[in-house]
Amino acid sequence: MGWLSIWSYQLLCLQFLFFHSPTYSKLCSHDQATALIHFKQHFTYSDEPKFCGASIGPPHQKLKNWKEDTDCCSWDGVTCDMDTGHVTGLDLNCEGLNGTIPSNTTLSLLPYLQVLILSYNPRVIGAFPEFNSSNPLEVLDVSFTGFSGRLPNSIGNLKSMTELNLQGCNFIGSIPASLGNLTKLTDLIISLNNFSSCIPPSLSNLQSVTRLDLRGNRFVGTIPENFVNLTQLSSLDLSDNQLSGPIPSSLSGLSNLESFYLFNNSLNGTIPSSISELVKLSSISVSSNYLSGEPYMFAKLTNLKNLDLSSNNLSGNLEPYLFAKLTNLKNLDLSSNNFNGNLEPYVFTNLTNLYFLDLRAVMACDGAVAFSNSKRGQAGVQRLQ
Ligand SMILES: *[C@@H]1O[C@H](CO)[C@@H](O)[C@H](O)[C@H]1NC(C)=O
Ligand SMILES: *[C@@H]1O[C@H](CO)[C@@H](O)[C@H](O)[C@H]1NC(C)=O
Ligand SMILES: *[C@@H]1O[C@H](CO)[C@@H](O)[C@H](O)[C@H]1NC(C)=O
Ligand SMILES: *[C@@H]1O[C@H](CO)[C@@H](O)[C@H](O)[C@H]1NC(C)=O
Ligand SMILES: *[C@@H]1O[C@H](CO)[C@@H](O)[C@H](O)[C@H]1NC(C)=O
Ligand SMILES: *[C@@H]1O[C@H](CO)[C@@H](O)[C@H](O)[C@H]1NC(C)=O
Ligand SMILES: *[C@@H]1O[C@H](CO)[C@@H](O)[C@H](O)[C@H]1NC(C)=O
Ligand SMILES: *[C@@H]1O[C@H](CO)[C@@H](O)[C@H](O)[C@H]1NC(C)=O
Ligand SMILES: *[C@@H]1O[C@H](CO)[C@@H](O)[C@H](O)[C@H]1NC(C)=O
Ligand SMILES: *[C@@H]1O[C@H](CO)[C@@H](O)[C@H](O)[C@H]1NC(C)=O
Repeated sequence: MGWLSIWSYQLLCLQFLFFHSPTYSKLCSHDQATALIHFKQHFTYSDEPKFCGASIGPPHQKLKNWKEDTDCCSWDGVTCDMDTGHVTGLDLNCEGLNGTIPSNTTLSLLPYLQVLILSYNPRVIGAFPEFNSSNPLEVLDVSFTGFSGRLPNSIGNLKSMTELNLQGCNFIGSIPASLGNLTKLTDLIISLNNFSSCIPPSLSNLQSVTRLDLRGNRFVGTIPENFVNLTQLSSLDLSDNQLSGPIPSSLSGLSNLESFYLFNNSLNGTIPSSISELVKLSSISVSSNYLSGEPYMFAKLTNLKNLDLSSNNLSGNLEPYLFAKLTNLKNLDLSSNNFNGNLEPYVFTNLTNLYFLDLRAVMACDGAVAFSNSKRGQAGVQRLQ
C-alpha cells in the first residue's frame, strides 16, 4: 500500500467511527446506561440533613448529573471496566436518596457490578435482592439504609463477596446457613438489626473473615465452639444479644484476635483460663453477663488497653499480680462485681497509662475498698489524667 491508500483507509475508519457514534466516543454501552437511568428513576432526593456517620452535610446529589447522552462511565459514583465498558461499581454513599430499591430485574440489568455501596441513605428501602451464582459482587454495603425483611438463602450464591455490610438496617429472621458458603468474606458486619435465632455454626466456614460483627441483634443460644476455625479473626463483636452458656475455651485458638466484645448477654460460667493465650488482645469487654470465678487469665495479656469486666459475679482477691504487667492499660472497669478481701490502691501503681478506672461496687462487701475513706463517694469513676 502507498501512503495515499493508507491515508484513505484511515479516513474510511474515521468516517466509520463518525457515523457509528455520537459526537465523541462512549465507553459505556447503551444497555448499561439504560440500566442506570432506570435505577435513577426510582429515587428522589430527600430534603433532610444527611448523616454520614461522623459528618453532616448537604447531599452530593451525584445522580443529578447522570444524563443519558453522556458516557455513563464518566458519571459520578459510577466505575467501569475500561476494556469492556461494563459498569462494575456504584458508590452512592450518603446521597440523601429517597425511594425503593428497584426489584431484582433492575439490578440484574447491571450484572457486572462488583461494588455496590448505598450506605447512609436512610430513606432507601427495599428487600435484599436475589442473586444467582454467576453474580460477581464483591462488596455490598447497605449500612444505615431502610433495607428490611429476611435474607434469602440465595445470599449463599455471592461466592465472590469479600465485604458484606448490613449494619443499622431493619433485617429480621435467622441468618441463612448458606452465608457460610461465602468463603472469601473478610468483613461480615450485620450489627444493629433485628436478627434472631441462633448463630449458624456454618459461619465457622468463613475462614478468611477478619472482622465479624453481630452486635445489637436478638441472637440466642450459645457461642458456636467451632468459631475457633476463624483463624484470621482480629475483631469479634457479639455484644447486645441474648447469648447464654459459657465462653467456649476453644476460642483461645483465635490467635489473631485483637478486639473481643461480649457485653450485655447472658453468658455464665467462668472465663476460660485459655483466654490468656490471646496474646494480641487489645480490647475485651465481658461486661453485663453472669460470669463468675477469678479474672487471673488477663494478668499476662500485656497488650491490653481496654479491660471491662463490670457487672458480673467475679470473685477472689484483687491481688497485685493481676495488674503488675498491664502497663498499656488505659481503661479498666471492675465495677459491680463480687470481689473479696481488701483492695489496696498500690495494686494499680504499674498502670502508668491508665485514664479511666471504675471501682464502684467492686466488692462483695461494701466498704472493703481500702481508699474508700478518702476517695469513695464522689469517685468510683475517676479520670486519672
Ligand atoms: C420521600 O419520598 C416520598 C414520596 O415518594 C415523600 O412522600 C416523602 O416526603 C419523601 N421524604 C423525604 C424525607 O424527602
Ligand atoms: C426476586 O426474584 C425472586 C425470584 O427470582 C422472587 O421470589 C422475589 O420476590 C423477587 N424480589 C423482588 C423484590 O422482586
Ligand atoms: C444470572 O443472572 C444474570 C442476570 O443478572 C443472567 O444474565 C445470567 O444468565 C444468570 N446466570 C445463571 C446461571 O442463571
Ligand atoms: C451452601 O450452604 C448450604 C448450607 O450450609 C449447603 O447445604 C450447600 O451445599 C452450600 N452450597 C455450596 C455450593 O457450597
Ligand atoms: C424485631 O422483630 C420482632 C418480631 O420478630 C418485632 O416484634 C420487633 O418489634 C422488632 N424490633 C425492632 C426494633 O424492629
Ligand atoms: C475446623 O476446620 C477443619 C478443616 O479446616 C475441620 O477438620 C474441623 O472439623 C473444623 N473444626 C470445627 C470445630 O469445626
Ligand atoms: C442489651 O442488648 C439489648 C439487645 O439484645 C438491647 O435492647 C439493650 O438496650 C441492651 N442494654 C444495654 C444496657 O445496652
Ligand atoms: C448457666 O445457665 C444455664 C441456664 O441458663 C444453667 O443450666 C447452667 O447450669 C449455668 N452454668 C453455670 C456454670 O452456672
Ligand atoms: C456468684 O458467684 C458465687 C461464687 O463465687 C456463687 O456462689 C453465686 O451463686 C453466684 N451468684 C450468682 C447470682 O450467680
Ligand atoms: C510493677 O512492675 C515491676 C516490674 O515488672 C514488678 O516488679 C512490681 O512487682 C510491679 N508492682 C506492682 C505493684 O504490681
